[in-house]
Amino acid sequence: MRAAVFASGTGSNFESIMNDTERAVDVVLLVCDRSDAPVLEKAEKFGVEASVFHPKTFASKATYEQLVLDKLREMNVAWIFLAGYMRIIGETLLKNYEGRIINIHPSLLPQFPGKDAIGQAYRAGVRTTGVTVHYVDEGVDTGDVIAQREVPVLPDDTEDTLAERIQQTEHQLYPAVIRQLLEQPE
Ligand code: GRF
Repeated sequence: MRAAVFASGTGSNFESIMNDTERAVDVVLLVCDRSDAPVLEKAEKFGVEASVFHPKTFASKATYEQLVLDKLREMNVAWIFLAGYMRIIGETLLKNYEGRIINIHPSLLPQFPGKDAIGQAYRAGVRTTGVTVHYVDEGVDTGDVIAQREVPVLPDDTEDTLAERIQQTEHQLYPAVIRQLLEQPE
């Protein structure tokens, strides 16, 4: 099954997908919206083609997404995995990849959607937070949940130590969910 990862940042989740889903999925494309994102170096390391688009240079979201869609079609991409992609997916991609776009979010949704979910949880003083993998819909982190894993907030945690624990959990959960989804008979 051919897939694309969309990412804007560090790319640690991209890396874990590359390392741990090998037999289930063929990641053929990275879509990135920032030319200075460290994830681009990771794509190069894995020999994955990267398409860098700058959405602000397009007249509309639809125009931008049409170009991305053309690229995805050209490469026969069947699934899209968002991994730290800092944009809301619009109608053009949602319509064409219905039920085939998934995202990872660093909280137990519906708690703490949107940006800085780890900071939100830390400041709220919750004892347990976690990680969610979910289908993407038109909202911000509102799609149907596929899997969740709890992560404890320890008494001596700083936001950084909590973030580290959450990321480790992400790196296990995301590839595991992808393997499970794609290994299912269609
Ligand atoms: C992850 O915490 C993910 O849950 C969120 O963005 C972050 C991306 O981190 N959506 P990385 O670029 O994969 O290291």
